[in-house]
Amino acid sequence: MRRIVHLSDIHFGRVDRDVAERVIEKVNEIGPDVVVVSGDLTQRAKTAEFLEAKRFLEKLPKPQIVVPGNHDVPLYNVFDRFFRPLEKFRNYITQELTPTFVDREMAIVGVNTARSLVVKGGRVNHQQISYIQNVMCDVPQEALKVVVTHHPFDVPEHHDERDIVGRAQLAIPMIAECGADVFLAGHLHVSNIGSTAERYRLENGKAALVIQAGTATSVRGRGEAHSFNLLEFADPTLAIHRLECRDPRGGFSIAETSTYMQTPNGWQRDV
Ligand SMILES: [Fe+2]
Ligand SMILES: [Fe+2]
Repeated sequence: MRRIVHLSDIHFGRVDRDVAERVIEKVNEIGPDVVVVSGDLTQRAKTAEFLEAKRFLEKLPKPQIVVPGNHDVPLYNVFDRFFRPLEKFRNYITQELTPTFVDREMAIVGVNTARSLVVKGGRVNHQQISYIQNVMCDVPQEALKVVVTHHPFDVPEHHDERDIVGRAQLAIPMIAECGADVFLAGHLHVSNIGSTAERYRLENGKAALVIQAGTATSVRGRGEAHSFNLLEFADPTLAIHRLECRDPRGGFSIAETSTYMQTPNGWQRDV
C-alpha cells in the first residue's frame, strides 16, 4: 500500500502553533511515502514566515512535493511581486517549481498556479500542462497519477466558481488523456471530494477525483476544524481519510473515510 499525506494552507504568520506541533507528530507517526503540501505556506510571504515554514517542513518525512500558493507571493511590495514573486519561496522552501515523484506505483506532479497579476486567483499555463502530460503518459497505467496545485480544479457546490484555477477547461481534458487519477489542491480552507466528471466534458479520458484539503494549521478555518488528508492506495482501491484536530490536546484523528475503486470508466465510490 502507498500512502500520501496531503497538507495545505499552513499560513505561517497566522498559525496555531500547538496544532502545527500536532501535525508534525501525526504525520511522523503515519510515516507516508510522500508528503504533499498544496501551497499557502505563509500569510504575507515574509522572510520570517518562510523560515518558520522551512523549519516545519524539515520536521516532516520526505520526499515532499511542495507548491506555492497566492499568499507565498508578496502582496504589498510591488517590485518583489512583479519582478521576483517566488524568490523567497525558492530560497527558503525549494528551487523546484515542478516537483515530481515517480516510481512504478505512483506519479505525483506539482505545478505553481500563483500569479503576480491577480491577488487571489491562479492559473496553469501551456508549458505546465505539457509537463504534466509528459510525466503521466510515461508511467504505467495502473499507477496512481496525482496532480498537485494550490488553486483547485473544482469547488464544492454553491462555492464561488472564480476560485477554480484559470485554464482548467483546457487543462483537464488534456491531462485526462494521460490518465490522471487525482487532483490535490487547497486555497479554499474547506475540505471536499469531487469528480472532474461533474464539471468537464471528457471524451478521451477518464474522470479524476478532485480532492480539497482544509487548512492544517491556519487560524482562519472558515468554520471547519483543522484538517489534512491521508490517501492510501492499493490498486485498484483508494481510501481518502480526513484527519481533524478539534482540540490541540487531543491531536489529529480520522474524522471521515471515503473509499473509491478504479474502474475502466474512472473512480467508483464504495458505499
Ligand atoms: Fe490559504
Ligand atoms: Fe490561497
